[in-house]
Amino acid sequence: MLETLGKISPDPILTLSDHFNQDANPRKIDLGIGLYQDESNKTPIMECVKIAEQRVIKNLSYDKKYKGSNGFNGFCEAISELLFSRKHELIKERRILSFQTIGGTGAIRLSAEIIYQINPDKGVWISNPTWDNHRDIFQHLGMKIYSYPYSGVLGELDFQSMLESISKIPEGDVIVLHGCGHNPTGFDIKKKQWAKILEIIRYRKLVPIIDMAYHGLTKSLQDDNYCIDLFSSQIDEFFIAYSCSKNFGLYNDRIGALIVVAKNRKTCFKTMLHLSRLTRLSISSPAIHGAYIINEILSSEELKEIWQRELKDMKDRTISARRILLEESKRQNCANLFFEIGYGVGLFSMISIQPKHIDTLRDKFGIYMLRSGRINISGLNEKNIKYFISSTKPFINKQY
Ligand code: LMR
Repeated sequence: MLETLGKISPDPILTLSDHFNQDANPRKIDLGIGLYQDESNKTPIMECVKIAEQRVIKNLSYDKKYKGSNGFNGFCEAISELLFSRKHELIKERRILSFQTIGGTGAIRLSAEIIYQINPDKGVWISNPTWDNHRDIFQHLGMKIYSYPYSGVLGELDFQSMLESISKIPEGDVIVLHGCGHNPTGFDIKKKQWAKILEIIRYRKLVPIIDMAYHGLTKSLQDDNYCIDLFSSQIDEFFIAYSCSKNFGLYNDRIGALIVVAKNRKTCFKTMLHLSRLTRLSISSPAIHGAYIINEILSSEELKEIWQRELKDMKDRTISARRILLEESKRQNCANLFFEIGYGVGLFSMISIQPKHIDTLRDKFGIYMLRSGRINISGLNEKNIKYFISSTKPFINKQY
């Protein structure tokens, strides 16, 4: 039976990491998978996580018993308070549902499943380009995928083209938006632009899914939350797919949440039952260890402060990595090839190199990036920047 399976390619992001690990080139640089790297190309466990983990082990109330399909309540509440603040009207009205998921991917998947269950014919609009898994998750369920343009012009998002495209989305369709740190372009939507998007969402009655995978890693926890603040006061139904992989560095703990804002308390409760059912059918209930750690961090003023400091340091490093890239490109007389990266935010930016040259950079120079030209900025530092620029510049067509 299994021999009848069709041919597929391995996942490009996950396999790139394996190839990097096997490469013996001492000068190799990993700009592939979206893992934060410090100045010495390490992805350290955050201090707040180490302390929280010790506390979790000692605290007997953190048991290993089964939990409900929605995961650990302490974690779910902590995440909704992080996004909405404890006194938010929607929390008081019980119109927010916070549901633990297997990372941000699990949250996207669960939102896709519930939307598909309600209406399998709904069109789903994703940015072009976007994180590849967006397309794959919805497509795998059998939903129709469309895209709106999301490209950079002179250091910022070409918002006009995006707006023109999304204003034609058929009524009631789903729109997937990146809350902050757009993956892969690094160009974010500005505050005034969010207001315009919101107008269209209301007018066309679109269903937004906000992918929040980089909260706090772009500008600040507060600024990165701007679209959620805005949407929560203006529209009565949307989804947030929240990932704790990057901002807590808990990549392999697979911890995230699907937050749903519903029209009323009754709908919220009903949605919760359906999400529980969908979860029961796939994983029964999510793994809890990461949820304990995050609950411990967010419920302790001391640990929360350490977390915020560490998060800011990570964010600042992505800014300084961009700066050293610009400085070195000036020294190597090719600032025109990289200048737009200086305007980007978050972990990613794109450079325009043909896939065959990306393969050459990987095979001959040990420089690993996605074949789309996406680079993980945090992989760059004082030690490797000269090598990165001198190796890549002959192949770059133009600034993306
Ligand atoms: C990435 O975009 O590289 C990360 O989000 C990792 C992943 O799961 O693709």
